[in-house]
Parts: sequence; C-alpha cells; structure tokens
Amino acid sequence: MKISFISMLFAFSCGLDYVERDLLGVSTHHSKRVAYIASQVGGLFGLNGSQKSDLAGCALLHDNALTEYIQDEADRGNNVLRTGKNDVSRHCILGEEHAKSIPFFGNVGNVILYHHENADGTGPFGKRAGEIPLYAALIHLGDQLDSVFHFSTMTDEKYRRLVDFVRKETGKLFFSEYAEAFLDLFGRQKFSEMTDQAIDGSITRSFPMFRTEYSPEQVFAFSSVFARIIDYKSRFTREHSVGLAAKAAAIADYYHFDLEKKTAFYLAATLHDIGKLAVDVNILEKPDRLTPAEFSAIQEHAWHSYRILRDIDGFRKMNGWASYHHEKLDGSGYPFGLTAVDLGFEERLMACLDIYQALVEKRPYKDGMPHDKAIAILDKMAKQGGLDGDIVSDLNDKFGGMCAEPTGAALNGEV
Ligand SMILES: [Fe+2]
Ligand SMILES: [Fe+2]
Ligand SMILES: [Fe+2]
Ligand SMILES: [Fe+2]
Repeated sequence: MKISFISMLFAFSCGLDYVERDLLGVSTHHSKRVAYIASQVGGLFGLNGSQKSDLAGCALLHDNALTEYIQDEADRGNNVLRTGKNDVSRHCILGEEHAKSIPFFGNVGNVILYHHENADGTGPFGKRAGEIPLYAALIHLGDQLDSVFHFSTMTDEKYRRLVDFVRKETGKLFFSEYAEAFLDLFGRQKFSEMTDQAIDGSITRSFPMFRTEYSPEQVFAFSSVFARIIDYKSRFTREHSVGLAAKAAAIADYYHFDLEKKTAFYLAATLHDIGKLAVDVNILEKPDRLTPAEFSAIQEHAWHSYRILRDIDGFRKMNGWASYHHEKLDGSGYPFGLTAVDLGFEERLMACLDIYQALVEKRPYKDGMPHDKAIAILDKMAKQGGLDGDIVSDLNDKFGGMCAEPTGAALNGEV
C-alpha cells in the first residue's frame, strides 16, 4: 500500500497534542513545532532527507504513550490529570515500545525512550552525553522550549526571555552545541514560521510528502499501534478500535476484498475514532447522565476524526470509510447528516461494524451483548431506515456462531 507515512504522522500528532494539552498544557500544533525545530537544527548537524524525516516522525510521536500512561495510572488510583503526580519515565518506556512497530527508514532506537534526558544527567534515566541519541536531544530541546514558551506566538519580550532561558539552561537541560545551533538558526523573525497559520506550510516545505510502498504487514503493525493509542483515551473503550479493526479484517475476507483494499479498510477502522483524542476524558467517562452540551461534545469526535484524517495525503477515500461511521442512510446521523446517496458500501459497512462492535464489547459498566441480540438491534435500525439491511444480514452470517469478545475486552459504542 502506497501512503505518505510522514503526512499520516503529522495528522496523527494533532490528536496526540490534545492529550498532551490535557496533561501538560501545551498548545495546538505542539508536536509539529517540535518536529520542525528538531529537524531544522538537525539539518545543521548533517542529517539527510530520510534522517530528518525519521527525526520528525519521532518528534511527532514523542508523547504517543500518554493515553496509555494516564489510563494505567488511573487503574492504580492516580488521576494524573488532577494530581499532577507524573512519573515521566513511564510514558518514555511505553512510547519506545510502540515506536518499534513504526516503519522508520533508519534506526531510531532509544530516541523516544530518552526524549526527557537532560544534558547534566538529571533526566528520568540519568543518561549523559554519549548515551543519548542526537534525535532524542533535539526533540528534548524543541519539546521543552515549546512547552515553556508556546511558539504559536512570539513577541520581542518573549524572545528575550527565551534567549535568556536557553543560555541559562545550556549545559543543564540542553547540550551546548544544540542550544547554540538553535539560537543561531532561530532568530526573532524565524518564529513567524511556527504560528498556527504558518506551521503547516513550513512543514510542507521542509518535508516532501512522498508516498512510499508499505507491506500489508507493516500497515497492520503500525495501525494497530494507532488503534491502541486511541483506545487508551478512555477505559470505557479500551479495545474498541482494536476489536473493530479485527472485525473489519474478517469481513474484508468475507467479501473477498483484495489485500490492498483489506489493508486500507483495516487502517481506516483503526483510525475511525481518532477524534476521540480531542474529547475531554471526563465527559467520555462521566458516570451520570450527560448534559446536551456534553452529549454533543462526544458526538463531535466524528467531526474531529474527519478533520484530522483530512490532512493525510492520499487518504480521502479512507477518510470517508473511517469518519462517516455515525452517519445513517436516512440522514439522521452525524456529523454531516449524509444520506444513502452519499454513503457507499464501505461507509455503510463501517457504520454497521461500529455499532455491532460497540454492542458485543464488554465494558466496565456492561457485559458484551450476545451476537443474536446485537443483530436484532441492527436489524431494527435497518428496518427504520438507518442501516443497510443486506450488510446486517451479512454480519449475521459472518459473525454468528463465533465466540464472544475475548475476556477483558472493554468497549465503546457511542463513540
Ligand atoms: Fe514526553
Ligand atoms: Fe511535548
Ligand atoms: Fe465513533
Ligand atoms: Fe467507534
């Protein structure tokens, strides 16, 4: 399958930024700015195109494990979003593990693991020069500076404080050669390249969004990681995208999709709820009845999915398969209120699979529904004009008699 992987990572990073914003207060496009700073400074140290692309990819994914870390801590009774008790090393370890499934061009071992290491050895793993990869040191520089100074805006006064800060932290937080290179390269005017309006253009000019051929195995591996990151946003839905993707692959075989189309459909399934990353977890997990405003905030996840995936080069068709999963044939769905004429076979199929998956999933507050009962609900929705009845009957054919969800599967249907 041919895709522009870097463009996919840039889009995915927008979702990750929402999570980092909730925990650490970073601003929109934070990961893109970290990628831009790291790769621009890296260029001064002789990195070539594919190395800069790998560096940017790691920068975009530097906090990919925050959702998993936050949920793991919640399982242990620590709500890090409220307590602020944050063990920095844990998301580095988990994030490094996830990165192993990402098809980088070269070796990026220990980059995400050591993205919080300080030059003076006071980072979470106490590493020093010689032990910290160049990419990790450059990501650390961009990450720390953008977190403190929010480069979406720049003023003369802020710039003076930034220069003072970098000088003060040289040899402590930052290695002197990279700190000096940053100050040389990023003069006051250059920050205009990183405003919310300018950053996408700066990125496009710096990184050719060429499409590369990836094997189905590679796509299955990295998209499964994406699904896992998305599912960890809420404990209610911890295996929803993973479960949906597995069913998407199974039904693709049932319909004899060729391998290319099966891979694309699987990828769309893993990403269908990426917009959930933008929704406040306290709303996603609210135990009480939702207010109308909270309900529409949850529904907005489908719009966020569409908006995030829209930016992936060559993803237009798959964006529809992914983001229209709450649309209904009779126009009663969301976010666009599309109708039968707008919804092709794959979009209808994803919508049916999403509801089926949500119903049969086990969640902290409910058991998974038996297949027959779930199909009866889908059937009723089809008869009311919302779903495609032929597809519902195919789901019955394909999944009837199969075992229920694996034990421990947590689910989500509303999202
Ligand atoms: Fe981090
Ligand atoms: Fe960050
Ligand atoms: Fe959804
Ligand atoms: Fe879903």
